[in-house]
Amino acid sequence: MSMSDKPLISADEIERRVAGLAREIGADFTGDAELVLVVVLKGALIFAADLMRALDLPVSVEFIQAESYTGKGSTGDVNLLHLPKARLAGKDVLLVEDILDTGRTASELLSWLNSQEPARLLLVTLLDKPAKRIAPISPDYAGFEIPDCFVVGYGLDHDQKHRQLPDIWAL
Ligand code: IMP
Ligand code: MG
Repeated sequence: MSMSDKPLISADEIERRVAGLAREIGADFTGDAELVLVVVLKGALIFAADLMRALDLPVSVEFIQAESYTGKGSTGDVNLLHLPKARLAGKDVLLVEDILDTGRTASELLSWLNSQEPARLLLVTLLDKPAKRIAPISPDYAGFEIPDCFVVGYGLDHDQKHRQLPDIWAL
């Protein structure tokens, strides 16, 4: 498996876009209800850490984890491995994803979150890869639309490797 010779998206570009996303999100959440960031483990960890520091809003953080991938191929099955313990009813909830591919994972997570009866439920994804979308969802906020390639870095992995890279690379 080889990496592209330059990053698909550089750390500088990511930093600027995350600041832009934080402004977009900040403009939509007035702060009347508590905003809960529900961060999808493990891939959205670094994005969420940067996004929450760029947001000029009081937030709380919960984690959710689903399993949908082994290596580079999607199995199509989504198992929920970890769910938030905090009550989400009546709260503003923002699901924070690293990447939308088929959309199955986000769609399962959104339907579970919906069942908790939040006041609002929105989705932000750092990367949007619409080429293989199966589930009929689109993000409320997306950092970058990318072509159908497998990417690593800035939290995203291939078999648990490369998450620590500051830039995003295509394999
Ligand atoms: P989906 O259910 O097909 O939308 O897949 C979403 C999940 O698959 C993401 O949360 C990632 O964990 C993983 N995934 C999809 N594409 C990539 C990629 O290019 N690099 C790393 N992980 C990916
Ligand atoms: Mg993921």
